[in-house]
Amino acid sequence: MKILVTGGLGFIGSHTSVELINKGYDVTIIDNLVNSNISVLKNIEKITGIRPEFHKIDLRNKNELKKKFRSNIFNGVIHFAALKSVSESVKNPELYLTNNVEATKNLLDFIASKNRKTNLIFSSSCTVYGQAKKLPINESSPVVKQESPYGESKKICEEIIRNEIVINKNINGISLRYFNPIGAHESSLIGEHPKGIPENLVPYITQFAIGKRKELIIFGNDYPTIDGTCIRDYIHIKDLANAHVSALEFLSKMKKENFYDFFNVGTGRGTTVLELIKIFEDTNNIKLKYKIGNRRAGDIIAAYADIKKINTTIGWYAKNTISNALKTAWNWEKQQSKLNDN
Ligand code: NAD
Ligand code: WQD
Repeated sequence: MKILVTGGLGFIGSHTSVELINKGYDVTIIDNLVNSNISVLKNIEKITGIRPEFHKIDLRNKNELKKKFRSNIFNGVIHFAALKSVSESVKNPELYLTNNVEATKNLLDFIASKNRKTNLIFSSSCTVYGQAKKLPINESSPVVKQESPYGESKKICEEIIRNEIVINKNINGISLRYFNPIGAHESSLIGEHPKGIPENLVPYITQFAIGKRKELIIFGNDYPTIDGTCIRDYIHIKDLANAHVSALEFLSKMKKENFYDFFNVGTGRGTTVLELIKIFEDTNNIKLKYKIGNRRAGDIIAAYADIKKINTTIGWYAKNTISNALKTAWNWEKQQSKLNDN
């Protein structure tokens, strides 16, 4: 089975490529390296023993894919490539619309031009639900008006994929709505590599713990939750990566044409910011001297997934603990710091 992985040198794409290769898939990666490094390719090879085919391609360039893969056939495409900074998207909405939406249109155009059965998995986000009225959040929860162009780009991409599949019987597809992926590969060879100051909690914590950041601020402790801090559904990156493999396997057995659906990918459990910090401290035997700050604009109070749909339909569920994810995240940060010292 030949699988094209867009954005395959990024955080989730690299871990998914490893899981795919380990299960015998023939992986081809494309990435424009805007938020990743070519060294990830070598590290995927170190972990799996196989160097996937790689092409530096920017998906915004409409004809590059068609030119590069004129005679290639892919059974599956996993589309990770996107920009993902909420704050950057507010400052530069146009960039997010062209990079995330145009790129997805170009990819669909490429897949359609092949006139061959193709299974497509798209990286969507729990962000499409906003602050859901009911928890845990199931897939019937409405997709709401997005506060950020980033969220909007995910909503639009889901829509254009659905619209393409309605008219194209060669494509079956799934959007996976991820909750909060954390952690790294147990080898510490691949992990999350935020550029600049991390926006997400776990890379911020590990950079603070290693001394790269001066202070760790908890964004508000006056929310209506058990300890006043926000609740999220943190999922181990390895589990998330495997959800893609399960989704592909599910589509490869699909008898229907024009099949499209979306699934939450989380653990089904909510964890507060303070609880997560405590797990990090206990797991890694480190004390974090955090401060309480103001609420962060746009933060929702609580989000965690109802995972019945993916569990009963695709048979996937999360196996790893937050503690294990935080151990691998810390090991990865220490490894990065060693490399930078040398
Ligand atoms: P990442 O930035 O680590 O990976 C994305 C990769 O895509 C990068 O390697 C980047 O260089 C590449 N890329 C971006 N634009 C491109 C383009 N125009 N052409 C080719 N390559 C391009 O991000 P990630 O955390 O691995 O996220 C992967 C996907 O999952 C994204 O679509 C993101 O929106 C989505 N997602 C991420 C999270 C999260 O918390 N990390 C949560 C929900 C959804
Ligand atoms: C988690 C909690 C913060 C940093 C992001 C994206 C969203 C989606 C999921 C992609 C929140 C708190 C954080 C810090 C803190 N991604 N925090 N101090 O809020 O779920 O959203 O990931 O689709 O689009 O915005 O995750 O990791 O940013 O924050 O107190 O220094 O940690 O307020 O409560 P979030 P996060």
